[in-house]
Formats: sequence, structure tokens, C-alpha cells
Amino acid sequence: MLRRNKVTVVGAGNIGATCAHWIAAKELADVVLVDIIEGTPQGKSLDLMQAAPIDGFDVKLVGANSYEETKDSDIVIITAGLARKPGMSRDDLLKTNADIVGGVTDEIAKYSPDAFIIVVSNPLDAMAQLAFRRSGFPKNRVMGMAGVLDSARMRCFLAEALDVSVEDVTAFVLGGHGDTMVPLPRYSTCAGIPITELLPAEKIEEINKRTANGGAEIVGLLKTGSAYYAPSLGAVEMAASILKDKKRILPCAVYLEGEYGINNLFVGVPVKLGKNGVEQIIEISLTNEERAALQKSAGAVQELIDVLGI
Ligand code: APR
Repeated sequence: MLRRNKVTVVGAGNIGATCAHWIAAKELADVVLVDIIEGTPQGKSLDLMQAAPIDGFDVKLVGANSYEETKDSDIVIITAGLARKPGMSRDDLLKTNADIVGGVTDEIAKYSPDAFIIVVSNPLDAMAQLAFRRSGFPKNRVMGMAGVLDSARMRCFLAEALDVSVEDVTAFVLGGHGDTMVPLPRYSTCAGIPITELLPAEKIEEINKRTANGGAEIVGLLKTGSAYYAPSLGAVEMAASILKDKKRILPCAVYLEGEYGINNLFVGVPVKLGKNGVEQIIEISLTNEERAALQKSAGAVQELIDVLGI
């Protein structure tokens, strides 16, 4: 029997509620929004349901403070946890968010044992690894959203610098979702032309830095929280590629076992996302300098993993 796709979004804060919004607007799936705060997921779901007649989307949204309603979800997006405030790094969230993401993962594994998990909570790579270990799910079903966001930020800055449509700009960012992320200008293009042929080296370096600092720039402006429109859409793009078996090639945090010389660690690399989740990890050739930057970034993730002992 046919049934609609079902996506659970855990955390009904800025990112979670905006995920629900994008999913509904794209008519991707029915949504269960879960939060520990009573009334918030219910209120936001009801509000979104009342937007349906205006936009004409036919999806059902419900809010909950427990997990019965989430049973047999196809995909679970985890956005629960504290967000950064000015002056905080993503790593400052480690202990608090590990407790939250660990508890959430137990519930997901119990109620939706066949789901794909997309982690958004920070520090991203460590939280994805925690969800992987805690759920016991196979590695193709657990992934973190960071690269889609980081490369979107880079595309946005590149399009602005080139004065062209964002549609014609691709960008490549590898590594952990932190200050050590590795933008790869050689693999970033405008209409197929490497940007290294279109922009001076200093401008590219400035864009690389702004990309790596993209989250902090927004935290500094918002002051009370962190970015959510682009992060939530990044997670929904990954969900869409799985639900529609699109086989998009997207940079995602996934469990590496030797790829890029990295072992037993979640780090951002290009992957193919389809109906089986992470269907392929794509290895591209790197210069010695790029490889060293990726190793450094992986080292920063490993430090967090060591603190958590997972
Ligand atoms: N279960 C469910 N929801 C929880 C839990 C929990 N155990 N603990 C906290 N939450 C909820 C909060 O009640 C809040 O509504 O998570 C929500 C987080 O929302 P925001 O504070 O608005 O944070 P947001 O901007 O959405 O970011 C969420 O994603 O990108 C990361 O760094 C960011 O870790 C942060 C997360």
C-alpha cells in the first residue's frame, strides 16, 4: 500500500521549525515536530498547517513532546540542542549537546529502527558520530549536514564577487564543520570554469575565510542565536535526495573508514545520496597542501571524539 513519506524533525527551535516549513512547502513528506518544550512543536505545526490552504501543500504536520507519534519515520532530522551565542565556538556546545543528541538518538532507534538520521546539532561531526554509535545503525543511514551549508555560503560569496547567478556557481568544501574546514577553489566553478581562472588569489582567499567564518558572522549579527534558514534547507536538500532517490552528489559528514586516509571518523566529504542513504563516498585527488588541511580538520574532529570517548 502506498503511503506518504514521513519525516520527524527533533527540536522545534529555529532550525527545526524552518526544516518543517521547507518540507511542507516542497510537499516532501508528512512531518512530526518534536521538542521538550510543551506547546512549541504543537503550536508551530498548527501554524504551518494553517499555511497549507494558502500555499496549497497537502502534507500533515503534528507536534509532540514524546516519540510515539514519530513511529516508523523514513528520515529523522536532529536539530535539538543549544545554539551558539556570540563568543562561543561550536565546540563549546559539546557536552550539553552530546547529552541531548544521545537521548534523542535512543528514542529514534527505538521508534524508527529503519530510518535515516540527518544530524544538524553542533558540533556537527562529533554529534553525527555520536548518533551513529548510539543508534547502532549502519553507516549509510547516519549523516551530518554541514557541507551543503558551507558550500552554499561559498557559492553565495562567489556569485556576489563574480556578479553572476548563484545557479551557475558550484563550490566544494571538505572537512569538519568548524574553523578548519577546507574550501577547495580548484574544484569550485562558474559555468564549469574553475574560479581560480576567474578571480584573483587574494579575493579567493578572502572568500575562503569568510566561508569558514560564515556561521560566526551570522551569530555576531543575530546575537541571540545562530543561522537557520540555510542550515535547515541544507538538511532538507539531503532528505529530498534520499526520499526521491535523486542520487545528488552533496558534501556531507559521513563515517570514513580509510577514505582520504581518515579512519573511524565523521568528516565532510562528497557523497552520493539516494534511496539507500549514503550510496557512495567520492574520493577526489588532492594536492599535498589540500590533503594536509583535510588531515588537520579531521584532527580537530578527533579531539572532540576523544573527549566524548566514542
Ligand atoms: N529533545 C528535543 N528537543 C530539545 C531537546 C531534547 N532533548 N533539548 C533541547 N531541545 C530543543 C529546544 O527546546 C529548542 O526548541 O531544541 C531546540 C533548539 O532550538 P534553537 O535554540 O532555536 O536552536 P537552533 O538555532 O534551532 O539550533 C539547533 O543546530 O546548528 C545547530 O548549533 C545549532 O546545536 C544547535 C542546533
